[in-house]
Parts: sequence; C-alpha cells; structure tokens
Amino acid sequence: MPKVVLEKVSKKFGRITALNEINLMLEDGEYSCILGPTGSGKTTLLKIIAGLVEPDSGDVYIDGRRVTGTPAETRNAVYMHQNYALFPHLTVSQNIIFGLTARGFSEEDARRKVSEVLEIVRLREWADAYPRELSGGMQQRAALARCLATGARLLLLDEPLGALDARLRLEVRRELSRIAEELNLTVVHVTHDQSEALSLADRLILMRNGKIVQAGPPEEVYFKPNSIFSAYFVGESIFLEGIIRSVNGRNVTLELKNGMAIEALSDDSFNMGELAVAAVRCEDIEVGGGPLTGSLKEVNFLGSFAKLVFELPRGLKIIVNIPLSRFIKEEFRIGASFQLSIPREKVHLFKPPSKGLAGEIEAV
Ligand SMILES: Nc1ncnc2c1ncn2[C@@H]1O[C@H](COP(=O)(O)OP(=O)(O)OP(=O)(O)O)[C@@H](O)[C@H]1O
Ligand SMILES: [Mg+2]
Repeated sequence: MPKVVLEKVSKKFGRITALNEINLMLEDGEYSCILGPTGSGKTTLLKIIAGLVEPDSGDVYIDGRRVTGTPAETRNAVYMHQNYALFPHLTVSQNIIFGLTARGFSEEDARRKVSEVLEIVRLREWADAYPRELSGGMQQRAALARCLATGARLLLLDEPLGALDARLRLEVRRELSRIAEELNLTVVHVTHDQSEALSLADRLILMRNGKIVQAGPPEEVYFKPNSIFSAYFVGESIFLEGIIRSVNGRNVTLELKNGMAIEALSDDSFNMGELAVAAVRCEDIEVGGGPLTGSLKEVNFLGSFAKLVFELPRGLKIIVNIPLSRFIKEEFRIGASFQLSIPREKVHLFKPPSKGLAGEIEAV
C-alpha cells in the first residue's frame, strides 16, 4: 500500500496559487526529493502532508487512511522546519524530551526514547551538551533525533541540510540515507541542491508554479527530461532553437538559427518546417568531428571537469563540460577553432514554448 497519496490537492494564499491540483503517490519506504524554484510550493506540499496546512480542495491519504482535516499529531508524520532550531538553553536530551512530553509521552518513556534516537544519529556522548557546543552537522543530527523520537514513520524534511557547509552536507546526507534505510522510513526531502537530490532520491519530484512538472527515478528525470524546464533545472543543458528541415522515420534534421544543422531522434510529433528547441546536456557534446564549428572563448575549471565556452557564427554559444582527465591544455587554446558534435540520441526535442525560450527559462 502506498504510504502517501495526494489527490487533486490545491491551496491558495489570497491570490497566490501555492499548489495547483497536485496528484502524487509515494510508496512505503521510499525516499523522495523535491526540487524546484523558490515559491514553487515545496514547503506548502510538505505542510499539507504533515497536517500543518489544510488544502482548499483535494485529499491526502497516509497509510491508506484519508487524513484530510485530521490533526497533525495523528498522522504518524513529522515535519522538520526549513529553519529548524534547537532550544539553546536546553541540552540535547532535554530538547528531545521537550518534544516528546509535548506529544504526551511519559517522562520515563521519553528518556528511553532519547537514548535510542541518540544512538541512531550517533550522538550518545553528547546527550548533556548544549547546542552551542555542537558543530553545525551535530546540531542538525540532534534536530533529526528530535523528529525521529516521535516514532513517526513518515519524515518530511524541509531543506534539512541548507545551513551546513559543503563537507558537512555530504556527511549528514550519508547519515540521513543510512537512518532512512535502517528504520525503513518514508522520507520526503525538499532541497535546493540537485546533487543532493540526485544522490539521495529513489524518486525525484520537480515542481514549478504549484505543479509537479516531472516525477520519477532521478536517472529518468536526468536522462529523459520531459520539458525544457526539466532539462534546464536538473543538470546543465544548452538550448538550440531551429526549424525541422527533414524527417526520415525517427531521424530528423534541425537547422539552427545560424544555418548549421544537427541530427536528432524524435517520436512522430515533429513535422517538416516546424519550429523546435533542442536541449542537450553540456557533458553530452563532443569536441571534434562534428557539424558545428566554433571558436573557443573561455575555459573554466570546476572541480572534476572543465567548462569550455565556444562561440559559433551569429552569436550562438555552446557550453561543453569535459572531464579533467580528457582536458589537454595545449590542445584547448583560446581563440582556436573546433568542430563540435552531438550524438543524435542525446538531443531532446521540444516544441517552442509559447512565451519564447528566454521567457520559459528566465521565469524560473
Ligand atoms: N502562509 C502564507 N501566506 C501567504 N502566502 C504564502 C504562505 N505560504 C506560502 N505562500 C506563498 O505560496 C507560494 C509557495 O510557497 P512555498 O513556501 O510552498 O514555496 P517553496 O517552494 O517552499 O519556496 P522556497 O524554496 O523559497 O522555500 C509562494 O508564492 C509563497 O509566497
Ligand atoms: Mg520552502
């Protein structure tokens, strides 16, 4: 039985539509990550599942039970706030006990629970420490312990790692993953960090303007973006506008605005003479032996890869990410001319957005 089901859930705040007829089904034990621009409705979605906000219309089911309108405490779910905070004047264990007694636990049960959850988040020796004595990562784990102590099987985490630096994020990310697995929790985790989402999630949910744009296994969202927005928001892509010049079975030729052409695969939704937008991942473009010619304008080193910016006639810009292992300094001289190619199966074709490509992407 799926753990969480949302049916046509909508929520407005005044004139703002925060959620617009959301349908969603999360399986028991599944780890979902929600990505989306600011204001897209991520927090509202979590709060509606938690019971902290009621939808205007639609229904929420948890464990097969319709919970719309029922109090948050009865939902077996716990919401961890975007700006989670431990009480500074209470120790780690007092912080956890506070949350439990507020939920009606006896003092004795609460104490037992404290040592259990501190063990899980590996903070047992810090039970009597005050939050200020803990590192950011440990504070975050303590806050997580406070949530776990409620015994809820459904964990709703709103940017739980947002306040941590990059190294700690990685550490706590691994802990989260381990704990979710060990306790067989169903987790919905909102994040702004796409690498976090791609690495943690069984299911990635991409939101925009109160709607779910795409949801599925992260590799599916990454390799098969269903929209320009999806290709833009997850991973790094370039977008090439053009006109379909030939259609031969699934093979189509797209003539770009500068007169150059690329090959692509399409379903039968494109006809000759139609306008189209090709989205291509920057790491899928190959340097050497292709139909596009451009001069190298910029080289930037970004960790494990180099970002190359090529300029093509008529102001067309192509960005290529190549692994550092394939980057040969002498070969990539600024100003030199290069052939670029794009494997046809790596080209994702979309209909031109009504508000234009720039409008579609800039609106994010
Ligand atoms: N209590 C509220 N009163 C009025 N408007 C609200 C309220 N809560 C949310 N909104 C509005 O609803 C929309 C969705 O908000 P929400 O907080 O769910 O977005 P979000 O995706 O979590 O954004 P962020 O990434 O910035 O946290 C926004 O336009 C927001 O301003
Ligand atoms: Mg939010």
